Amino acid sequence: MDDKISVLYSEETINARIKEIGEQISRDYAGKSVHLVGILKGATFFTCELAKRITVPVTMDFMSVSSYGDSTESSGIVRITKDLDDPLEGKNVIVVEDIVDTGNTLSYLLDNLQKRGVDSLRLCALLNKPERREKDVVVDYTGFEIPDAFVVGYGLDYAQKYRNLPYIGIIEP
Ligand code: IMP
Ligand code: MG
Repeated sequence: MDDKISVLYSEETINARIKEIGEQISRDYAGKSVHLVGILKGATFFTCELAKRITVPVTMDFMSVSSYGDSTESSGIVRITKDLDDPLEGKNVIVVEDIVDTGNTLSYLLDNLQKRGVDSLRLCALLNKPERREKDVVVDYTGFEIPDAFVVGYGLDYAQKYRNLPYIGIIEP
């Protein structure tokens, strides 16, 4: 537990931003319902907080993909390690992710989900690191754009640690 972590966004700042995104989504999907697809495990906290801030009818499902292992570098190889419980047919799907970094994971995933008969498909990411992008990925709803640093907390991990920090911090391993 000797890693140095400096606070980037406090819990208050994050929750205020999630409230705004929830309001935006509620306006954009007025008269419809949304199906949130949270990506395990990083997006769990964000998905749940966001769901609470959306006022149109919400259903939720989760899936798990692996691209990193326990390192801080993307391998570029994406694998679905736990698929969704429910079909996406006819649904207005919003994929909820913790962070878009190289874009490798989301580029693969959005492609995969698009083929499942969705009515619409959008992406909502708590964090976005545009400088690091290798694959073109459109982020429809972004919490915060951050510089190229490795961050932890609010669901994000370093070797599975620090997901439970209530804030987002920059780690120097
Ligand atoms: P991408 O495929 O390179 O866009 O990576 C996406 C995944 O890498 C995210 O869902 C995270 O799990 C992980 N990741 C990327 N950057 C960070 C970071 O700064 N902290 C923690 N996890 C990260
Ligand atoms: Mg992730």
